[in-house]
Amino acid sequence: MRKTLLTTPWIGTCLAAAAAMLFVAGPAAAQSMATAAPTYSKDIAPIVQDVCMRCHVEGGLGPFLLTNYQEVRRYAQRIRQSVLQRSMPPWHLDPTIGIQAFNNDISLSREEVDAVIAWVDAGAPEGDRADLPPLPEARWTWGESWELESRLGPPDVLVNSGPIPIPAEGQDVWPDVTLPWQALDETRYLRAAEIRNTVSGRRALHHNNVRLNLEGQPSGRMVGAGASKTYDLFAEDTGIRLDAGPGQLNWGLHYALYGEAFVDTVEVALWFYPKDEPPLYESTVEYHHLIDQYTPGEPRGRDILIPPHGTQTMTRVVVLDEPIMINSIRPHMHLHGVGQSVEVIWPVRERDYLGHTASPGEMLSSVNNYDHNWQTSYSYQEQARPLLPKGTALMFRTHFDNTANNPLAVDPDQWVAFGARSVDGMSHMHTAISYLSQEQYETLLQERIKIAQEELTKPEEERLEVFLPLEGRRQLDRRPALD
Ligand code: HEC
Repeated sequence: MRKTLLTTPWIGTCLAAAAAMLFVAGPAAAQSMATAAPTYSKDIAPIVQDVCMRCHVEGGLGPFLLTNYQEVRRYAQRIRQSVLQRSMPPWHLDPTIGIQAFNNDISLSREEVDAVIAWVDAGAPEGDRADLPPLPEARWTWGESWELESRLGPPDVLVNSGPIPIPAEGQDVWPDVTLPWQALDETRYLRAAEIRNTVSGRRALHHNNVRLNLEGQPSGRMVGAGASKTYDLFAEDTGIRLDAGPGQLNWGLHYALYGEAFVDTVEVALWFYPKDEPPLYESTVEYHHLIDQYTPGEPRGRDILIPPHGTQTMTRVVVLDEPIMINSIRPHMHLHGVGQSVEVIWPVRERDYLGHTASPGEMLSSVNNYDHNWQTSYSYQEQARPLLPKGTALMFRTHFDNTANNPLAVDPDQWVAFGARSVDGMSHMHTAISYLSQEQYETLLQERIKIAQEELTKPEEERLEVFLPLEGRRQLDRRPALD
């Protein structure tokens, strides 16, 4: 998780609205006028270096460079607009509700957003160059090495799709490449997998799913990537089981064309747990969770039908028949999708003012600013992974907007139905799940309660966010259960 730079306290209301409100009329406006205006060298460069330069660098994904004062100043107004709307940096989760502790969070804090806005409104001053932080030395630049290498060391296995020619014009294309898999000599557990396209490939990429089909054995997707999502990394206790034996590796690809022909190559790097140290928990890779009213096995998505100048909301409820832990979520809705969330209803009844009647529930995570160009996987921090008991109802919700309010709704005069192209509707939540035995659940629950107790002894601003299921919170509070 990123550190905050300034120390204004977080205000828990809608980020964009609150930022605008505070800056124009709120108490923070008065406060920031009293203190000196932020300068590039002192206040803005650290943010740009830490966040924007992951992409807005030579050879990076960003459409222009943001590497020094002149470049950043040139785009100051657009930067102001994009941080206020939370379109940049690309992190589209609602920061005001649900779990906020993620491994791959690149969002700006409220204070950083306020600093950027105050800086632009003060005329984007450079300040004293002596304040400039040194450029980080070991900066990872996309395409030069593996992003996970700094955390995990060199990968154990590398595979490569070979050349994939992509045309300049036409409808979307779905190339499919199958190559032999170099068999493992014993069962191994995957800690992480990273996918890398060429820069041109990433511009056109819709998704990129790599499947391992083992001969005569359970097979499945190994890693999935989409625009901006490049890896799956599990917590230190979790991995995907890959059995020994021969098989085939399949790349299922989807590109939306953009006017230039190119040849893409898709490389995949795999990191395994040591042979004698398998992880405690197994996970699925991004299980393709359908949010519609049809049961698995039936044609999917038949009920997606978004009227012209209208909206559609779809839900899907799953009642857990065993305990689970969610490792990550990744909404996938195509261009008309604007929000997707996951909520729980706990399997207990709770006393409220009407008696023992309420079924308490809560939001786990809400991606309320979805942008189809960014297929971010929200990967929960280890102690924040939702741990859910048997009987919990998980509710997934998709919201589509086919009105002029959605800049990505290509033609609001048209009906939109289910389909595979980005202009068609789709309603999936990709979730990576560990299925747990009751015993594993109980152990994890007690571990979490212990972590929560430890965190509570720390000053508030240093505490990790710990996720406890409702029964865990009750145990932590030493409150007697009411049910
Ligand atoms: C993960 C890569 C990535 C990161 C991190 C990132 N950008 Fe971007 N940025 C892009 C890409 C790609 C585009 C063009 C496509 C788009 O707008 O989604 C873009 C577009 C923009 C635009 C133009 C948007 C518009 O329509 O006016 C601005 C301004 C911008 N970025 C500023 C920033 C700033 C400021 C930061 C850091 C706080 C940042 N970006 C971080 C990749 C990134």
